[in-house]
Amino acid sequence: MEIIRTVKRLEEVVDDARSKGLSIGLVPTMGALHAGHRSLVERARAENDIVITSVFVNPTQFNNPEDLRTYPRTEEADCRMLEECGVDYAFVPSVQEMYPEPDTRVFDLGPVAEVMEGAMRPGHFNGVAQIVSRLFALAKPTRAYFGEKDFQQIAVIRRMVELEGFDLEIVPCPIVRESDGLALSSRNVRLSPEARATAPKIHYLLEQSLNLKADGMQPKELAATVAAAIDDVEGLETEYYSIVDAETMQPIDRWEDAGVLGAVGCVTVFCGGVRLIDNIRY
Ligand code: PAJ
Repeated sequence: MEIIRTVKRLEEVVDDARSKGLSIGLVPTMGALHAGHRSLVERARAENDIVITSVFVNPTQFNNPEDLRTYPRTEEADCRMLEECGVDYAFVPSVQEMYPEPDTRVFDLGPVAEVMEGAMRPGHFNGVAQIVSRLFALAKPTRAYFGEKDFQQIAVIRRMVELEGFDLEIVPCPIVRESDGLALSSRNVRLSPEARATAPKIHYLLEQSLNLKADGMQPKELAATVAAAIDDVEGLETEYYSIVDAETMQPIDRWEDAGVLGAVGCVTVFCGGVRLIDNIRY
């Protein structure tokens, strides 16, 4: 595996691969890699000739400076894992290399980016669009891999791809969980032992809510019921729980209102001061 630190070198290897007609799989990450990231990388490895994984803590998507400052950085271990997974190129640029000048682009992301994470983290999705569009322009992937853990992020990236006219396939990948149900996240290392013990209740309560749907409860009432059940757990506090159309990200009043992709319940919960996100398909 080659570790690439410059845009120039990345462009060289991409141009070479493209000229040979090879397919390129791109897995964008912010590092602190875990089995969730690994599942994306393995899928990319299986489906493409060349695999590029980017490891870059993108400052423009952090709306909270403290979160950016304390974001876990484990470059050596990350590169070891990527090498083990058979990645061809780890793209690990500096901030200066990625943004020699400030990126002032404002993307017209529309309604998918206005709700939930978009409402709670102003500027976050614009920053995601900035970095992912830049990575797409440089790595020219045939396919790019994203986890459904960040369900809304995928909808936003699809919108950005449409706006920018990128010719590539977005491949959504299922959420990888700990054996107790907690969705893997780079931020899980911030959980205290007590908070770590409480956190799996989030997924447990989301799963239980499938029964409420089976009993005929409609989305708005169900969302309020689940949020209340989460808040009843000591140490958990819901920021939002929304049941939305899986394509448009807009809240639905009735199950029949969901389009072809169905409905998804998206949650953000504070657990011992750590902000965790998760979701479930209905
Ligand atoms: P990061 O949080 O590092 O996640 C990189 C990719 O891994 C994302 O597509 C995310 O959804 C996926 N992922 C994280 N945890 C997962 C899990 N438990 N199961 C499955 N997939 C999981 O998301 C970002 O970085 C950034 O916003 C990025 C897209 C790289 C742009 O900076």
